[in-house]
Amino acid sequence: MAARIIDGRAIARRVQAQVADEVAALPRIPGLAVVLVGNDPASEVYVRNKVRAARSAQIYSVEHRLPANASEQQILALIRRLNGDPHVDGILVQLPLPPGIDALKVIEAIDSLKDVDGFHPYNVGRLAAGAPAMVPCTPLGAMMLIHEAIGVPQGVETLMIGCSNIVGKPLAQLLLADGATVTMAHKLTSNLAEHVSRADLVVCAAGVPGLVRGAWIRPGATVIDIGINRVADGQGGSRIVGDVAYEEACEVAGAITPVPGGVGPMTIACLLKNTLQACRQHAGQSEAA
Ligand code: GUN
Repeated sequence: MAARIIDGRAIARRVQAQVADEVAALPRIPGLAVVLVGNDPASEVYVRNKVRAARSAQIYSVEHRLPANASEQQILALIRRLNGDPHVDGILVQLPLPPGIDALKVIEAIDSLKDVDGFHPYNVGRLAAGAPAMVPCTPLGAMMLIHEAIGVPQGVETLMIGCSNIVGKPLAQLLLADGATVTMAHKLTSNLAEHVSRADLVVCAAGVPGLVRGAWIRPGATVIDIGINRVADGQGGSRIVGDVAYEEACEVAGAITPVPGGVGPMTIACLLKNTLQACRQHAGQSEAA
């Protein structure tokens, strides 16, 4: 059996086109500020792609760069300025931040209504409470792919591998809200193979290349691979792979997301969606004022 490939690029294009249409109908241009501290090469690529995608949806997007030795005070001062800027609807601080910077303190400084990453404890708490919230982009995008592949996963035996604040924990909340039966595991889970073999939906965000083997997967299961790992390609270069042994998994799974081309493009599309949502909220606020 060959798994159906879930084409994240095509679905992301659809979402981005819809955001662009909705932006065109707004009375003012939404604004997105992207903050990059230091020069982590992967973060530079992510930030460039985010700014480029925002601009192509006619979102006014500005990249703010601070040096790797910027102080916490400098970062907080920039965030305070962006919080007060009426042209900025969304603020994103690319993670990880350099060593010595308290990431939670920085995230908490962002106006929760401009928190398009959904990382602020206000939004984290609202999501956990089942209230409307800004939902983190990667989990939101992964849920769209799950809906596309199998519909609402109500009652579906689901294994979430990875419990980060950015992906695993919020995604488990979204799956629970949809009625899925969710087991949380991570890279240190001792009997991971056994857990995987019980799941009809396997979602992996552990950051370990090839962690999930094809032989562990239940025939016909849906596999959502959120890992983005750079590994040597054996020819002196490198390539990007996920957390799932892809070729093996394709032989067994019912549907699977490729890496690259699966969840990655959805993260960016959902950032644009969240920026549009933040802009609408601000418009509602200023009308009410
Ligand atoms: N680093 C890795 N993923 C993300 C993300 O979704 N948002 C931000 N701000 N930083 C990240």
